[in-house]
Amino acid sequence: MEAGSFAILTYGCQMNKYDSERIAGILDKLQYKKTDDLVKADLILLNTCTVREKADQKVFSKLGRLKKLKKKNPNLLIGVCGCIPQAQGEKVMGRSPLVDLVFGTQNIHQLPEMITELKAGKKKLTRILEATPDGIDPAEDPFLRESEKQGWVSIMTGCDNFCSYCIVPYTRGRERSRQPNDILNEIGSLAKKGYMEVTLLGQNVNSYGRDLSDPLGFPKLLEEVNSIQGLERIRFVTSHPKDLSDELIEKMQKLDKVCESLHLPLQSGSDKILEKMNRLYTNHQYMEIVGKLKKAIPGITLSTDIIVGFPGESDDDFSKTEQAMLHVGFDSSFIFKYSPRTGTAAASFKDLVDEKLVSERFGRLESIQKETTFKNNKLLEGKSVEVLVEGESKTNPEKLMGRTRSNKIIIFEGPEKLKGSLVEVEITRAGLYSLDGHMVGSPN
Ligand code: SAH
Ligand code: SF4
Ligand code: F3S
Repeated sequence: MEAGSFAILTYGCQMNKYDSERIAGILDKLQYKKTDDLVKADLILLNTCTVREKADQKVFSKLGRLKKLKKKNPNLLIGVCGCIPQAQGEKVMGRSPLVDLVFGTQNIHQLPEMITELKAGKKKLTRILEATPDGIDPAEDPFLRESEKQGWVSIMTGCDNFCSYCIVPYTRGRERSRQPNDILNEIGSLAKKGYMEVTLLGQNVNSYGRDLSDPLGFPKLLEEVNSIQGLERIRFVTSHPKDLSDELIEKMQKLDKVCESLHLPLQSGSDKILEKMNRLYTNHQYMEIVGKLKKAIPGITLSTDIIVGFPGESDDDFSKTEQAMLHVGFDSSFIFKYSPRTGTAAASFKDLVDEKLVSERFGRLESIQKETTFKNNKLLEGKSVEVLVEGESKTNPEKLMGRTRSNKIIIFEGPEKLKGSLVEVEITRAGLYSLDGHMVGSPN
């Protein structure tokens, strides 16, 4: 018998998307049916992010809008899970009268018990476990994945870096690496099911394995993943510049499935700010890595994260960030206004930058990024690229959308049955967010 329908709204990073697929798998096993239509759901879970104040607000304004659904369906259960409860604890329940269930990032495996308790009449259930040193291996749970061709695979959880602005070490606990065999088995079984691409996930994949009794570093892990039959593409996020080794660059160059693109958060171009952020690298060191990457891997695309308006950021510090962006020529960047998070070191820093100035700086970085992206995309016109077809284009449903190995979005005409296959496309016109093209040859 079916238990009802569930919907999950996911906020934040890939780690949360992965967790949502795990939650969906557990609910599916409990005979719940997944729906994207909130009106039909008997259980709505908000898998939350609290990395910036805005992410936090988004969740609570969404909750407000769920009020009318609860009126219509008194049996509707609403749960808040993920990073907000993990960081803020028990008080989350009190933040909205609509919430029936609250659980943290470390309690996902307890979902079946929580559902049973709620069904037995328990009201206002909160479960938040501290992150434990050994952790729970996600592979023990079933997964209901969004895509049949591209899979997220967590290789580690938590973070030990304590960048002074960042809440993640508090929402995800200490760094814990999964056993290489568990990771390889998970990817192996995805490949057998026809998955062509995996993205290895960790807050800092470059420190993978340090906590294992038999450490296997990230470059070696990549090598093992590369030898899995059937897999075509390997990506990974996120790389911390302080731990990006020459060995990794060498493997990226050598291993045929590792894609020519890298997300390498810069955060700031000023050494003074980088030090206050506790990032443990200098602008010079960052640029050295970029130089090596570009030399070893021609055509590599680089993306980054930047924080503007970090406490104490002067005009001079900011202009160093502008220079750094122009120097690297990132293909894309995520630019964030600094947002103080309770519990982090930077929350007590003085010298806050005036809000208007932050907005102005934000705008300047945004226009640098737009110009660079367009310039880089223009260089691809006339080139032929390998595209993994994801499905119909969201902006133009009559066309197909896919990604290059360098992570560019390509829009082109073709039959729907090509979804999930690799095709060769010649780029005809560069845009800012996507490029148009037409297929050449026959699909592989
Ligand atoms: N582990 C990853 C992702 C961390 S969160 C990494 O190290 O890159 C993603 C991005 O959010 C960070 O790179 C940073 O640019 C931004 N961020 C984190 N905390 C922030 C804060 N308090 N205010 C503004 N941006 C923040
Ligand atoms: Fe946050 Fe820094 Fe860890 Fe990334 S490396 S999750 S920015 S503390
Ligand atoms: Fe947000 Fe948690 Fe990820 S705070 S960025 S969802 S680890």
